[in-house]
Amino acid sequence: MGPSKACLVKMVRTVTKTPSAVTVPRNVILATMQYTEKKFVIPTLDGISAKSVEEHLGLYGGYVKNFNAISAAIEGLLSDPDKNALAIAELRRRHSFEFDGMKLHELYFPQLEGGAQPIGAESALAQALTKHWGGVESAVARVRQTAMMRGPGWSNLYYNPENGAFHMSFVGEQHQGHFATLPIVLALDVWEHAYLLDHGAAGKAAYVDAFFKNLNWSVIEDRFVPLTK
Ligand SMILES: [Fe+2]
Repeated sequence: MGPSKACLVKMVRTVTKTPSAVTVPRNVILATMQYTEKKFVIPTLDGISAKSVEEHLGLYGGYVKNFNAISAAIEGLLSDPDKNALAIAELRRRHSFEFDGMKLHELYFPQLEGGAQPIGAESALAQALTKHWGGVESAVARVRQTAMMRGPGWSNLYYNPENGAFHMSFVGEQHQGHFATLPIVLALDVWEHAYLLDHGAAGKAAYVDAFFKNLNWSVIEDRFVPLTK
């Protein structure tokens, strides 16, 4: 004979126990979820002004602050998850937007540090791009084509260590269209805030030109090589 209906209801309630019953203190949970704004040393760039970089770094800091704020807000609302279900759901949807905004900018800015460096013709990255797409220029053309898609977002180049494939994605906003689990080797921010100040609303192509003019390819190489080990 199986468990009674009353017993089954009790079991379900036990399994679906709300997070408010978790005994780990809220401040301990939050301490592991707080992120700190990173600092970047961006040299004088050709076609991207210091003022634009300064404002862009400020926007990056906003993602860090907002991710931390949403983490705290969700943990607070979980004190009564049933009453706050709608608010929690909305914050959950915005959480990865802020996180990915933070992390994509932490991939973007280092690519402009250290001064422009060309890709080595014999480098492992150049050889892999040549094997996969026929050459570095072909890869750059794909990044440019993806960058010119409409809408705010990112033109991202991913590498899959499982099969040696490169993949391009237009990531809408910060979080829509990622290839789950695949590392990003090149991240090109094509939100209007990246180029509006220097090139105007119709200046995305000029900004993309400037990005590649200033790109430190050694950073991309340093991301790629460990993925091949
Ligand atoms: Fe940005």
